[in-house]
Amino acid sequence: MICVLLLAAGEAWESPALADLEAHPGVVVLKRCVDVDDLLASVTSGQSDVAVVSLDAPGLDPASTAHLRRHAVRPVAVTTSRSDDLDVREHAQRLGITAVVGAGELASLASVVVSVEDAADTHARDGAAVEVLPDVVPAEDGADGGRVVVVWGPGGAPGRTTVATNLAWEVASRRTDVVLADLDPYGGAVAQQLGVLDEVSGLLSASRLAGAGQLDDRFASVCRGIGEHLAVVTGLPRADRWREVRAAQVDQLLERARASAQVVVDTGFCLEEDVGSDFGGRPGRNALTLAALEQADEVVVVGAADPVGLTRLARGLVDLRERAGGIPVRVVVNRMRSSIGWSEKEIAGMVEGFSRVAGLHFLPEDRAAVDKALVSGRPLAEVGDSPLVQGIAALADALFPVSVPSVPAGRRRRGRRPR
Ligand SMILES: Nc1ncnc2c1ncn2[C@@H]1O[C@H](COP(=O)(O)OP(=O)(O)OP(=O)(O)O)[C@@H](O)[C@H]1O
Ligand SMILES: [Mg+2]
Repeated sequence: MICVLLLAAGEAWESPALADLEAHPGVVVLKRCVDVDDLLASVTSGQSDVAVVSLDAPGLDPASTAHLRRHAVRPVAVTTSRSDDLDVREHAQRLGITAVVGAGELASLASVVVSVEDAADTHARDGAAVEVLPDVVPAEDGADGGRVVVVWGPGGAPGRTTVATNLAWEVASRRTDVVLADLDPYGGAVAQQLGVLDEVSGLLSASRLAGAGQLDDRFASVCRGIGEHLAVVTGLPRADRWREVRAAQVDQLLERARASAQVVVDTGFCLEEDVGSDFGGRPGRNALTLAALEQADEVVVVGAADPVGLTRLARGLVDLRERAGGIPVRVVVNRMRSSIGWSEKEIAGMVEGFSRVAGLHFLPEDRAAVDKALVSGRPLAEVGDSPLVQGIAALADALFPVSVPSVPAGRRRRGRRPR
């Protein structure tokens, strides 16, 4: 049985195509999608095999087709032009779509749907489908590239950005290339913490380039380099601009980043699959965080070391397990201080009661160092060595073993810029 999603974008071929597909043995049309976002959200259910899409659907870009493939959904494009038209071929090639059904060929759509194979396979049927080779770089699975470490944590500002920023800095200071991406859909803060005065948002540029199929080639232009080893993709300049970034574009950004470097991602706090209020099941604001989690090799969950923070952390760990079960989780209990009255052992007992974790780290409260760093727009290591900086270095050891220098930890210099 082949399950099909249909995105006709209001074109007249929808009704006859639907009738033909439904009449074809072994084919079931699962859903008529209202737009590309609806299609991309629908494929994540894992129930569909083929997406029949209008080649001219607004928003259909290489990132969208890469997203389809990641969910093992094979695209078939329908165009109202001739399928051997040069522009049509080029457009399909840019999208990485190999099967195109053109004007006058609609009768063969169902047979193309049944026989279309995976992306790179060349395929034609009775002259109905044009063969075009995708020029889209296939998704890296990270096997040879860097690790993607996603820093997440519940609401209440437990210190996600502080951990993400200083972790990336630490890894870069060991001469290991790292991309730090600010994907917080509630507004970016990484740039400010690192004193990057950006006029352009790296994330918004990346999403525009991903949409145009140019991100792979122009990735360097969306990064702000700090020293030789740290590249920062700055976040949203205003919280309300989250609508300009789609999950599929986040996928492409992280795939490109991990192809050449280790990756640290700062995210938002909320894991709810909020459906946008505008129309048609469009993925909402938290799609950015959820997309990052989907790409994660490991998640760092940051919680604050006080009664409210720990309760939120416990709930967060349960939510995360439901959302992203299977990804290793490392917990950071931040802002530890004696005035709270709990020992590390007591907190460890609580955390382990809620979730199996790959590791548990404690970072001390250090208001003076954090303030000094924030006010001067510098990372913590730049304002001096401290137990907080050492705690972050230990976290980097665990998350990015590839960065661990061969000199004994006690002899490592601190407070230096990434080179
Ligand atoms: N170990 C620490 N000691 C003292 N202050 C800290 C520590 N870690 C973080 N802070 C402070 O806590 C506040 C929140 O930190 P941060 O911005 O990193 O949190 P967040 O989880 O990213 O929050 P948001 O929800 O705003 O994204 C900041 O003022 C930061 O300086
Ligand atoms: Mg933050």
